[in-house]
Amino acid sequence: MSRPDAGTGKPVTARRALIVVAAGSGERLGHGRPKACVDLGGRPILSHVMERLHGLAQGLPTQDPAHQAGADRGLDAVVLVLPSDQVSYDQLATVGEQFSAATGVPVHRTRGGGSRSASVRAGIRELLRAAAADWDPARTTVLIQDAARAMTPEAVYSRVFTAVEAGAAAVVPALPVTDTIKRVHPEPLATPGAERVAETVPRSSLRAVQTPQGFTLELLQRAFDFIGDLPDAQAEALTDEAMIAEAMGVEVTVVPGSQSALKITTAEDLAAAQATLAQRETPAPERPVLPRVGIGHDVHAFAPAQEPRDLWLAGLFWPGQQGLTGHSDGDAVAHACCDALFSAAGLGDLGVHFGADTIGTARPELEGASGARLLAEAARILEAEGFGIGSIAVQFVAKRPKFGPRREEAQQVLSAAAGAPVAISATTSDGLGFTGRGEGILATATAVIYTI
Ligand code: CTP
Ligand code: MG
Repeated sequence: MSRPDAGTGKPVTARRALIVVAAGSGERLGHGRPKACVDLGGRPILSHVMERLHGLAQGLPTQDPAHQAGADRGLDAVVLVLPSDQVSYDQLATVGEQFSAATGVPVHRTRGGGSRSASVRAGIRELLRAAAADWDPARTTVLIQDAARAMTPEAVYSRVFTAVEAGAAAVVPALPVTDTIKRVHPEPLATPGAERVAETVPRSSLRAVQTPQGFTLELLQRAFDFIGDLPDAQAEALTDEAMIAEAMGVEVTVVPGSQSALKITTAEDLAAAQATLAQRETPAPERPVLPRVGIGHDVHAFAPAQEPRDLWLAGLFWPGQQGLTGHSDGDAVAHACCDALFSAAGLGDLGVHFGADTIGTARPELEGASGARLLAEAARILEAEGFGIGSIAVQFVAKRPKFGPRREEAQQVLSAAAGAPVAISATTSDGLGFTGRGEGILATATAVIYTI
């Protein structure tokens, strides 16, 4: 993004820089070492700040569709303000090096001061020294982020950048206050820890402010000249840069913050961040991909003796045996297999695909088709719907034909038709019922299929 410079006519590039202040000692957290080094989910707190910024660093769109303006801009420089002790400094410097290697963004670092504002000042000095010396301060946006707000989502950074680039000199992200707020009298009561309410503060106009706070570099330079001229006590009271801007009479714009941008201050905050992270980083338990099973029955009566018919059963021709009634060849075994497949796939049944109506109208080529042909067609329909066949098992109940001697042959024919193993068995019904009396055949099939 560039515009011609009024003086030289040369294009002036808009710049984006980020200063992360990570030099605090973390006294309230009580880990005996700088807070940014403390472990959160197996890596230092500072790592969490940086790992959320890879997209922003490279100018990729954020997940916040309302704030994508300038998303293609990327970051021009990052400054890490680190603790003075060498061990912490080196550990956190590595985090910066990894970020730079992954994103290509130059990461500079410096040591912090005795207060947050001293650390911010050190960060700005380093930015000017190492990167921004010849950048146009009016066209350079600098975001200042607390390492302690480790989980701040990228979209918040993006919002703040966008608001500054749209013309605001100072921008803070904030959330509405949801608790009822009371002001108390300064004098303590006799009961230890007890206080007296002075008033309830209307909360509709209150905001809880977060980081990153964003400014033009020009404003930051003026702000530090401004506090340099203040008495120490007054300067110390201005704990963040937005307060300095307010004190200078500069309008500060508020944009929406995020619940995730919680500041890690105490052990409870760290535990809460730990829990949120564990929830996010634990993969959802994988649901096993189960196969689908189906069931199918078919019954056909033997044709009366006075109407001789060929017997086709289990894909085979059975010479000398009276055949079965029914449309097509009456192969109850193959038809039960088809039904089991359609059942497993949830695709209806034989009637839907090969019923007399269907064949009479939409599928005339299947009229009179053999059982094996229909099974092959059922397998093709399943495949077209995204299913593969695991196996089919089918059993028929009948007095005849004697099946054992031709089992292998039948299994080969139907397996070839289905494109998957078809196991066939046969039994009798001890003389009971229509099968026992030799009036017809009952076939029952199950099928196991899977999603391709
Ligand atoms: N900070 C800093 N230099 C300081 C003090 C604070 O860079 N001298 C940074 C911290 O690293 C933190 C942010 O400013 O990211 C906000 O400060 P705070 O949450 O108060 O952190 P600490 O000062 O480290 O914590 P404590 O006040 O409990 O010691
Ligand atoms: Mg502090």
